[in-house]
Amino acid sequence: MSDEKSLAPLSDPGLPAHKYRKSDIDQKAAKRAEQQVAILFLLSAIGTLLVVYSYIFIPVDSFIFLPIMGEQNAHQLFLGLGLAMALFFIGAGAVHWAKTLMPDHEEIDERKPMRSKDEDRDAFVETVRERAADSGIARRPLIKRSLALALGLVGVSPILLLRDLGPLPKDSLEKTSWATGTYLVTDPGDRKIKASDLEVGAVAQVLPELAPGKKRKLEDIGKDAVLLIRLRPEEFQLDAERLSWTHQGIIAFSKICSHMGCAVALYEQGTKHLLCPCHQSTFDVTRAAKVIFGPAARPLPQLAITVDNEGYLIAKQPFTEAVGPSFWERSS
Ligand code: FES
Repeated sequence: MSDEKSLAPLSDPGLPAHKYRKSDIDQKAAKRAEQQVAILFLLSAIGTLLVVYSYIFIPVDSFIFLPIMGEQNAHQLFLGLGLAMALFFIGAGAVHWAKTLMPDHEEIDERKPMRSKDEDRDAFVETVRERAADSGIARRPLIKRSLALALGLVGVSPILLLRDLGPLPKDSLEKTSWATGTYLVTDPGDRKIKASDLEVGAVAQVLPELAPGKKRKLEDIGKDAVLLIRLRPEEFQLDAERLSWTHQGIIAFSKICSHMGCAVALYEQGTKHLLCPCHQSTFDVTRAAKVIFGPAARPLPQLAITVDNEGYLIAKQPFTEAVGPSFWERSS
């Protein structure tokens, strides 16, 4: 290749000649395309209805046998199919609409300095408005309505999922199984405890004794777990009432962190601090679990304890405040 040839200035090839689509020149083809778009949007709407039907009417544990896939969970299968249909056909409808009916004139927009001039920006806004008008949505009520239906149904379907949040807790979060006279039993083991079972400095997790024939539910353990800690009585810095809730240096607190509900599981014997491993809230055992560090907004609720005639530890009364995260208190 000669130097002269290789240095020849590049010429702007310009845009290729515009090709008209069938729907640009044939009214019947345009009408047909409009109907196809509407059908795609309607298929999307059917997909969303399938999601709604599957979610409400097909039991979660129902199964269906398919030739290649074998036994499948029908609830999940139809939820998935419906969602796939809803999203696929709404996309396919939009693409088909753009390819067949929306204006497809090629235009060149020269690269501009970083900020366009005000008149150019105004012109852009004007162009967007014109193109929106050009899309013909106002003139094509079939597309407009089917699109509104498909978009509307897709938009509302997530609302159904709110059902998975379950029923409102009402006041169940404020109540625990602790009642006046409930025995404190070891966890695990379910054995009653005497004060003499705990040495000074010891910590134990306890639960309320179960009524005969009853089973412990996980959600009850999540609310009922209590930590017993034994100090020397003179180490407490409590008012008279809180001191009367202890027994021979044994104090009981809810184990559920008042910040976000983790198990407060770490006890520093030297400092007499309880530490929550989740966000490091620290509670001073000697001062009724007062928060001395971290995000917890209130002390761990204290359970008033005493002993029965045989010396076994029992609850003097139920908790006087809700256990667990502070927002539980505001749930009712
Ligand atoms: S849950 Fe205990 S500090 Fe956050």
